[in-house]
Amino acid sequence: MTKKYNVGIIGYGWAATAHIAAINATTQGRVAAVWSSRPLDSAELSAKHGGTIKAYRELDAMLADPDIHVVDVTSYPSQHRDQAVAAAKAKKHVILEKPMANTPEEVRDIVAAAEANGVKGCVCFECRYSNQFQVTKALLDEGLLGKLHYGEVDYYHGIGPWYGQYRWNTGKKDGGSALLTAGCHALDALLMLMGNDVASVTSLSTKSASDIFKPYEYDTSSVTILHFKNGAIGKTAAIVDCLQPYYFHTHLVGSEGSLLDNKFHSMKLKADKSHWSGLSMKMLDSGDVSDHPYQAEFQAFFDALDRGEDMPLTSFKEAKKTFDVIFAADTSAAQGGTPVRLP
Ligand SMILES: NC(=O)c1ccc[n+]([C@@H]2O[C@H](COP(=O)([O-])OP(=O)(O)OC[C@H]3O[C@@H](n4cnc5c(N)ncnc54)[C@H](O)[C@@H]3O)[C@@H](O)[C@H]2O)c1
Repeated sequence: MTKKYNVGIIGYGWAATAHIAAINATTQGRVAAVWSSRPLDSAELSAKHGGTIKAYRELDAMLADPDIHVVDVTSYPSQHRDQAVAAAKAKKHVILEKPMANTPEEVRDIVAAAEANGVKGCVCFECRYSNQFQVTKALLDEGLLGKLHYGEVDYYHGIGPWYGQYRWNTGKKDGGSALLTAGCHALDALLMLMGNDVASVTSLSTKSASDIFKPYEYDTSSVTILHFKNGAIGKTAAIVDCLQPYYFHTHLVGSEGSLLDNKFHSMKLKADKSHWSGLSMKMLDSGDVSDHPYQAEFQAFFDALDRGEDMPLTSFKEAKKTFDVIFAADTSAAQGGTPVRLP
């Protein structure tokens, strides 16, 4: 079957395998090529994932292929900037795994290269497309919680030796910080729900005393307090060194009610305030990429490409706002918790 957007993947690790299935399941996209530092066999790739997939050994050759329309960067975070910029210069639209990159300069370079070359971007903040946050956002948009004045979205996910990424995530160069490597999903969700007009952030960080997390070169727990320009306040804990089940915690408090994960109370519904009401929705309860809503996000990206527009929710420009807050938070934590203002 002919599809409109042929995608070339950079990197063939864990995220890439989930991306391939998700891209192929969209209406307009199919994976046509993979570039990896490891030698891969085109016939094997095609048999495994379906369709015809060409394995490239040279990245420049894949980027020069006029039949590739979109490049999907799923490599180590320290490689994201150079590869995303090269893809944009080759006039390919770009799907980019989180973190966009681990420094503000690199993120700026990526956004500038896309703009200069007239290509669109999609950052894998796929949690925005999750059923949990789509339903939560719909509840807010219906006005059931009124005006939010407090919100917290926290990320608890122990990334120890049992986890594939541990081998590179422990290093500062690729792991970055508790927020950059994992907590970014929670901070991003908080900004989706409360708006991203942040006036200032204050952050503190530390690490576990457990030997399991000793190899980490950076603080693996951080807590960030946000002051929004509209006066609201928020909080995100990013905890990579916990020993517990994966937990994406959400608590929102507004003038008409509150939401706690999949429970809520709204004065507008006149229900009993001493008990929570329930929301039936699929929760984000796993770090496994096969459970992540990539397909909905990539479908929205291809639909936006069809319209010639930036995609909703996770465009480069929208995601950069989240990374601006993250870099400000990490600066605050490095200074022992002094507030850092955002422009
Ligand atoms: N959005 C999300 O929820 C989510 C989830 C998982 C990963 N990610 C991101 O995706 C990116 C890649 O993460 P990953 O989990 O796929 O990591 P991974 O370790 O599986 O792969 C990372 C890179 O290493 C390469 N690689 C893997 N094994 C290799 C080997 N034996 N020899 C040479 N190269 C090898 C891969 O091709 C890829 O380029 C990172 O930026 C990560 O933060 C995001």
